[in-house]
Amino acid sequence: MPDPDTFVVTPYEVRGKIDYARLREQFGTQELTRELLARLHQAAGGELHPLLSRGIYYSHRDLGPLLDGYLAGHPFFLYSGRGPSGPLHTSHLAQFDLCRWFQRRFGVPMYIQITDDEKFWARSGLTREETAHWGLENLYDILALGFDPKRTHVFFDSRSIAALYPLAIRIARKIPYSTVKAVFGFEPSTNIGLVFYTALQSVPCFWPSWAEGHSVPCLIPCGIDQDPHFRVTRDIAEGLGYPKPALLHSQMVPGLLGDAAMSTTGNVADNALFLNDPPATVDRKIRNAFTGGRATVEEQRRLGATPEICSVWALWRTRFAESDAKFAEVTAGCRSGALLCGECKGQLLERVHRFYDEHAQAREKAKGWAESTIVTEAPKPI
Ligand code: TRP
Repeated sequence: MPDPDTFVVTPYEVRGKIDYARLREQFGTQELTRELLARLHQAAGGELHPLLSRGIYYSHRDLGPLLDGYLAGHPFFLYSGRGPSGPLHTSHLAQFDLCRWFQRRFGVPMYIQITDDEKFWARSGLTREETAHWGLENLYDILALGFDPKRTHVFFDSRSIAALYPLAIRIARKIPYSTVKAVFGFEPSTNIGLVFYTALQSVPCFWPSWAEGHSVPCLIPCGIDQDPHFRVTRDIAEGLGYPKPALLHSQMVPGLLGDAAMSTTGNVADNALFLNDPPATVDRKIRNAFTGGRATVEEQRRLGATPEICSVWALWRTRFAESDAKFAEVTAGCRSGALLCGECKGQLLERVHRFYDEHAQAREKAKGWAESTIVTEAPKPI
């Protein structure tokens, strides 16, 4: 039997019950404190995004200096990405929801990397046609969240390689094989695509500095599972004459079946809400989702339920409780036993369906301008 306290978090594997405080210590990242959030609040000139105020983003690297720079007149840019392996699910939106908030509040450019090479190298069951297909489909969903077409740029790895490669050449020379082997746990059988890949994921961190010919700081909102890549990037940044990227790390959104992450790598489709699930499937998945409820109505009325372990509460928390008041109401009702799971799921479903309807419309519009965001040329010859 594996030790229940054992958990694994790497860019290629998330497993076990994650102790997030311990993970932050293992990774050596900084805590996202109330003081820092208050500074961010002030710099943003308005309410914090719920993903920040509700503690889903909980860790960072160098957010303080990035804010100092911004307040002193040095704007930053945002960078995040997606390794396409299938349709997006709602938990993938956390990083892009936060980016969109930053783009609106700070008026900064956004760079999105779609790594249609990465998952082809990392997962044996996927064809190139599939990763390229899902790359484009995922991009429509991401852009539909409300990114500014004029300030949003996409590196679609297989199509943007001419734009990425001149920097990738320089980056790759700085990364010894022993580093990637230790950081990612590569085996002798790991294909060499994956060994090189981390160089490509680093490129966007430096690309605007390269293009503009002066230092442009980078902020990466991402799941904490991606931190190992950027540890490597940060280690080599100064040697290349570029600023180290700053990071904001989120916890993983739990799966509907009670797993640590909303992942379907194990082919358990009911663990996640896919953005292309038809309404009846969304209904079924949420109705069957793991909750923190009691065995009987009587017990729940008497003792209350446990939001912290509930996958439905996690959906409210990470996306679907639009106001803090609604979130507080659901949480208190759950804990006291006033709100039963069936009623809670019904209320959530109403909001999820509304989001799916609005998203479908925004997605059709985004399809019209998605191609124009894809960067295909290097800014300089060498
Ligand atoms: N490796 C990420 C994934 O598997 C994709 C990615 C590329 C990414 N660049 C990124 C994620 C920057 C976060 C930030 O989905």
